[in-house]
Amino acid sequence: MSEPSLPEPRLPLRIAVLASGRGSNLEALHKAAENGQLPIVIVAVLSDKAESGALSYARNNGIHCVCLQPRDFASREDFDLALMQAATEQRPGLIVCAGYMRIISPAGIAVAPCPMINIHPSLLPKYPGLNTHSRALANGDSEHGASVHLVNNILDGGKVLQQVTVPVLPNDTPESLAERVLNQEHKLLIETVRRITENPQFLQSP
Ligand code: GRF
Repeated sequence: MSEPSLPEPRLPLRIAVLASGRGSNLEALHKAAENGQLPIVIVAVLSDKAESGALSYARNNGIHCVCLQPRDFASREDFDLALMQAATEQRPGLIVCAGYMRIISPAGIAVAPCPMINIHPSLLPKYPGLNTHSRALANGDSEHGASVHLVNNILDGGKVLQQVTVPVLPNDTPESLAERVLNQEHKLLIETVRRITENPQFLQSP
């Protein structure tokens, strides 16, 4: 008897993006969807920063936006519960953290309506946290890169789904290295999301 087939992914995959900054990963993902390269729809951009480039991009492109200000909430948990509630209302099948600069509390992660992935600019498990480019340079690494991983309760510690390697050049500064890594991040994020749309089990596979 043949193996039962895997359930078909529900397409287009509904994605909610969490972002705090410039929003170039959001833009790369959105453009890939608009060009017909990816069977996704970005159903919301949620941010903790009213002035972020990510929110401006979303507004200018007719994407549903939610901005929550941490100062309006009594605790990190209250903020995260409101954030997840706002995400849940858009019925996402995937949450993508793309330059989202707040640590999500275990209470927030527990109520996430779907799997969450994050793009991080290092070859995890190397350099979780901030300043990854200067740390790679300070250590004399010959290679640096980016990772897409599942979000769990450990900072940048969830299962790595895919990585891209970028060579460190002799005269690299944190800025020049960051720029080359960012270019690759965009491709890596698109490629990872494509694999999830093709087979949601990719999120579980070893
Ligand atoms: C990226 O380097 C991402 O890996 C990190 O924050 C940066 C966000 O860039 N988590 P952008 O806002 O997507 O342009």
